[in-house]
Amino acid sequence: MRQDIESILYDAECIHDRVLQVGTRITRDYQDKDLLLVGVLKGSFVFLADLARSIDLPVEVDFMVVSSYGSGTESSGVLTIAKDLSVPVEGRHVLIVEDIVDSGLTLSLLAEDLRSRGAASVQVAVLLEKDVPRSHQVECAYSAFHCPDAFLVGYGLDYAERYRNLPYIGILKPEVYEDRAQCPDARQSGR
Ligand code: PRP
Repeated sequence: MRQDIESILYDAECIHDRVLQVGTRITRDYQDKDLLLVGVLKGSFVFLADLARSIDLPVEVDFMVVSSYGSGTESSGVLTIAKDLSVPVEGRHVLIVEDIVDSGLTLSLLAEDLRSRGAASVQVAVLLEKDVPRSHQVECAYSAFHCPDAFLVGYGLDYAERYRNLPYIGILKPEVYEDRAQCPDARQSGR
């Protein structure tokens, strides 16, 4: 797979160190709180696995599968929930764990949805915040990296469902997605 990667942006050691720092902050901030980590599948699965193990608290972990659509320039959008939480969030401190925030649409809608269910608090921990103008405002309380606007894969991030298992975050060579753009099952997420 390495031959498809233009360059490595964050190597495994760098990611490990940052995730540990974020986990330490979360441990400090959520002392004596009932914390529920909500992983947004699929992209967050690697980050969540490492982050959860760097938090020294008795957290509960659950997952959602969501997708969003809406105009990049309008303030509204629609959240589709393909897999919901298996526990109620009312009165609980929820920390959404995401791999990447791009337009901000998905996270803004998801946070709003969980707040409307009566969560005591809803915060966001994100692996990558893309340095692009955001059409939907999202407050990321915890953010491991601010990254450039490039097509990133690895450590959970995919292109056409591949590369999620790379232990680092790299920039995909343009010829990989340009070649496969003709292929009907190749999903271009815009990353
Ligand atoms: C990615 C990512 C976020 C969303 C971010 O999900 O995991 O959920 O896009 O984009 P936004 O800020 O513009 O809303 P994707 O649909 O690629 O699914 P995946 O997690 O299964 O890879």
